[in-house]
Amino acid sequence: MTQKTSALNNKNTSWSGRFNEPVAELVKKYTASVGFDYRLAEFDIQGSLAHAQMLGAQKIISLEDVKVIEAGLAEILLEIQAGQFEWLLDLEDVHLNIEKRLTDKIGDAGKRLHTGRSRNDQVATDVRLWLRATTDQVIAALKKLQLSLLDLADAHFDTVMPGFTHLQVAQPVTFGHHLMAYVEMLNRDGQRFTDCRRRINRLPLGAAALAGTSYPIDRELVAKKLGFDGVCENSLDAVSDRDFAIEFTFAASLVMTHLSRLSEELILWSSPRFAFVDIADRFCTGSSIMPQKKNPDVPELVRGKTGRVYGHLTALLTLMKGQPLAYNKDNQEDKEPLFDTADTLLVTLEIYADMMRGIAVNKENMRQAASEGYATATDLADYLAKKGMPFRDAHEVVALAVRYAVDKKVELSDLPLATLQQFAPKIIDDVYAVLTLEGSLNSRNHIGGTAPVQVKAAIARAKAALNL
Ligand code: ARG
Repeated sequence: MTQKTSALNNKNTSWSGRFNEPVAELVKKYTASVGFDYRLAEFDIQGSLAHAQMLGAQKIISLEDVKVIEAGLAEILLEIQAGQFEWLLDLEDVHLNIEKRLTDKIGDAGKRLHTGRSRNDQVATDVRLWLRATTDQVIAALKKLQLSLLDLADAHFDTVMPGFTHLQVAQPVTFGHHLMAYVEMLNRDGQRFTDCRRRINRLPLGAAALAGTSYPIDRELVAKKLGFDGVCENSLDAVSDRDFAIEFTFAASLVMTHLSRLSEELILWSSPRFAFVDIADRFCTGSSIMPQKKNPDVPELVRGKTGRVYGHLTALLTLMKGQPLAYNKDNQEDKEPLFDTADTLLVTLEIYADMMRGIAVNKENMRQAASEGYATATDLADYLAKKGMPFRDAHEVVALAVRYAVDKKVELSDLPLATLQQFAPKIIDDVYAVLTLEGSLNSRNHIGGTAPVQVKAAIARAKAALNL
């Protein structure tokens, strides 16, 4: 009896009646999540409102109680938004903090809110609501970055640069074409988030602790109120799996992979050895010792932060792999990696969209580099093949010509016709049109090719797909 009374009077927890001694201070700190899951507050309140309204509609609690709960939660939301809500570590997590405040405000009605619900289905619901909103932000931010890349590509749809394989000059491409490769990657990234959102958007509430509940609940109604496409169909799965969070983090990892590649290029291109581009000063810093330095800090940090997001993906995958069904406290560890993934990704996308608007292109250097690396050698081989020489033979003939030009320290287009004819008598004076950079670009005139008309068309298609 004494013990029961003390449990009911215990101000700080809703489950201590069973325990003979209080939780150790260090353990409280170790197990509390309010230090980070307070970020779910707004969604916790949304979920509670929908749950309470359903309980009322199903006559599980009175409509009077529902009204009082609604008013209390509305006040609490304002307190949180105003930064006046006091989060207590003793109350462990966002859910118990809000519930306790509600009960302090409205008494017994607040204690009825948790009917037919557990923190297990509650937290899974909160995380899904938060992640759905975050996914929408990511999709919008991806589009913004694509738009920024598209504008730069548009301005450089015919700017010649060397295309590389093995980081060796391979064939001429346009800078616009190069940028459009990233627009494509980000397109698939956007699709991945849109697809992942469908699996995020399912309601766990109703699963209760793990097995469902004996109250006559209406899960469909709650799903509808919260904008979910449907309910999670198995209660054990609903409270335990975090695959949707892993998927989100994987999709984020791939975006970071793509941006890390572009960053690596920006770092190379802005080095004086390349001098293809100049990154606006506001995205760079100087050196405290070497006065001449202008460091590409933002791309370097994007490359660095990619590792951090991969780390979160590994953390979440590892978090799940050993867990028996159903809910385990391990799952509390899903939040920090997920929050940091979203924070890192969103700020990276935002800064990248701005940075790409501050890229100045050194067309002369790009062109010079393209004309110096025998980038049109393939064009000469194709020229011979089109005149009837088997491609493999043409390849060998041109290899010899390139070797000759390298020895003489000249470009292929610098070789006189008579010299070229020594390698292949089929060569006539129309060959020089093929050996120019523009000739090479324009000849790749099919969908996906680098001919400037094709790049223009690709930009137009991408803009139309973004509904611009
Ligand atoms: N803070 C917990 C989490 O993030 C909420 C769920 C706790 N459930 C429980 N049975 N202890 O997962």
